[in-house]
Amino acid sequence: MSKLRVQSFGVSLDGYAAGPDQGLQRPLGARGEELMSWFFPTRVFQKMHGASDGEAGVDNAMAEQGFDGIGAWILGRNMFGPIRGPWPDESWKGWWGDEPPYHVPVFVLTHHARPPLAMRGGTVFHFVTDGIESALARARVAAGGRDVRLGGGTATVRQYLRAGLIDELHLAIRPVLLGAGENLWRDIDASALGYECTKHVAGERAMHVFLRRRT
Ligand SMILES: NC(=O)c1ccc[n+]([C@@H]2O[C@H](COP(=O)([O-])OP(=O)(O)OC[C@H]3O[C@@H](n4cnc5c(N)ncnc54)[C@H](OP(=O)(O)O)[C@@H]3O)[C@@H](O)[C@H]2O)c1
Repeated sequence: MSKLRVQSFGVSLDGYAAGPDQGLQRPLGARGEELMSWFFPTRVFQKMHGASDGEAGVDNAMAEQGFDGIGAWILGRNMFGPIRGPWPDESWKGWWGDEPPYHVPVFVLTHHARPPLAMRGGTVFHFVTDGIESALARARVAAGGRDVRLGGGTATVRQYLRAGLIDELHLAIRPVLLGAGENLWRDIDASALGYECTKHVAGERAMHVFLRRRT
């Protein structure tokens, strides 16, 4: 059975996975880059953005394994873009330019229907308005036996966590206190939901923590 995996999810010490006041100028919210500053220097991120190389240490290895065996993604609508409410038109095509780094079908949860959007390089964004189970079922079919990666953001990961549908989570814990924003753990008892920590690895700029749902 294919797994639902959260990978490379940047979280502050106090549990925030995005800062407050998300918008066009700051997709991750105020101070949100501090959550992902472990990822930006890595070879995998640098190559994704056209550089010839980047750092190849532990953080890079942790980021790389997050792309292994992935056949589809699920995102929340706020991770897809800064627009809230009904789509004014279909001009917004994600943060990632003409060729997004997914290269497989991506299922975007939203309350606002929109036709599928095919991008260069094999990414097709499908907008799902009938809930998390439906998005997961469609993603599993699209993945054809490979795993489904749950990209985020926070509200979306929280819903799948509460429903006990996530098999594995890799959190990149950054040694910063954000104090405000979107908190992953607010009112969530992950232990009671059946999750346990199976591994932790110190990277150059983050502590990589792996959680798995007990079977
Ligand atoms: N730290 C990390 O590694 C990481 C990773 C990914 C993203 N992020 C950041 O996280 C932030 C986004 O997270 P977020 O918590 O604000 O939002 P999110 O999870 O990306 O999206 C939430 C929105 O998705 C739609 N949605 C979610 N569940 C739905 C459902 N069951 N049915 C229908 N629509 C549903 C709703 O939008 P509508 O009602 O408007 O349609 C909802 O407001 C961004 O700043 C992003 O950059 C961080």
